[in-house]
Amino acid sequence: MTPDRPRRIRVIGIGAGHPDQVTVEAVEALRSVDFFVTADKGGDDPLLAARQALLARHLDVVPPVVAVRDPERDRSASSTADAAGYDRVVVDWHDARAAAYEQAILEHEGDTGFLVWGDPAFYDSTIRIVEKVLARGRVDAEWDVIPGISSLQMLAARHRIVLHEIGQPILVTTGRRLREAVEAGADNVLVMLNARLDLDGLDDWQIWWGANLGTADEALVAGRVGDVLPTVLAARDEAKARAGWVMDAYLLRRS
Ligand SMILES: C[S@@+](CC[C@H](N)C(=O)[O-])C[C@H]1O[C@@H](n2cnc3c(N)ncnc32)[C@H](O)[C@@H]1O
Repeated sequence: MTPDRPRRIRVIGIGAGHPDQVTVEAVEALRSVDFFVTADKGGDDPLLAARQALLARHLDVVPPVVAVRDPERDRSASSTADAAGYDRVVVDWHDARAAAYEQAILEHEGDTGFLVWGDPAFYDSTIRIVEKVLARGRVDAEWDVIPGISSLQMLAARHRIVLHEIGQPILVTTGRRLREAVEAGADNVLVMLNARLDLDGLDDWQIWWGANLGTADEALVAGRVGDVLPTVLAARDEAKARAGWVMDAYLLRRS
């Protein structure tokens, strides 16, 4: 801790599952903080174990890890039925998280590290929550973001592909909004956050799919959707059964 400068909050991208897939900058940031704050999602959070393995791998002395109980999120169908309802629920949840993180930061001295899965810029709320914590006005800190290797980069590397065709765009979206993207004419789509895989009617599209990338239970499948979907679904179930959790992402390209 250095008392003669403002305290720091560091949002650190830690890669998507393998302790070697962090940058030198991230390791230096991990070593620079006085304590970490992470969300305690209750039960046996498998990602908590992955984070601990990462810290053990890169730090000689692991500073305190403050696990903040994640506020309950309203997942009721009535609140999240439409996009506006869903957004409202997420904003309320972020506010509750900001209050909980603020408390954890105020109760500890020195620089705070947030460990962010993959890269903080993709489907992760930590940056928004840190902004909210600072906007509340009780925590006075400088803050920075250290990029991480995203699961999207892992997916591309493992399949040895470029994510788009020459000079062409790519759309990144969630499983929830895939249909909307396809109906709007997108033809090269990266999909994350898949509660389930709904690829009905997309038989002729190409898919490059990956689950638990970077871990011992990594699974990869590529091919025409109509041909490989059963293999993808079986591999997804198998990864979940082996690891106890599954996170998957895929690239879909219209033929
Ligand atoms: C909350 S988002 C966080 C994404 C993260 N910030 C990133 O850059 O990868 C979680 C989603 O990322 C994808 N994901 C994260 N880690 C993954 C992994 N190891 N293998 C496959 N997909 C992964 C999945 O789509 C998962 O539902």
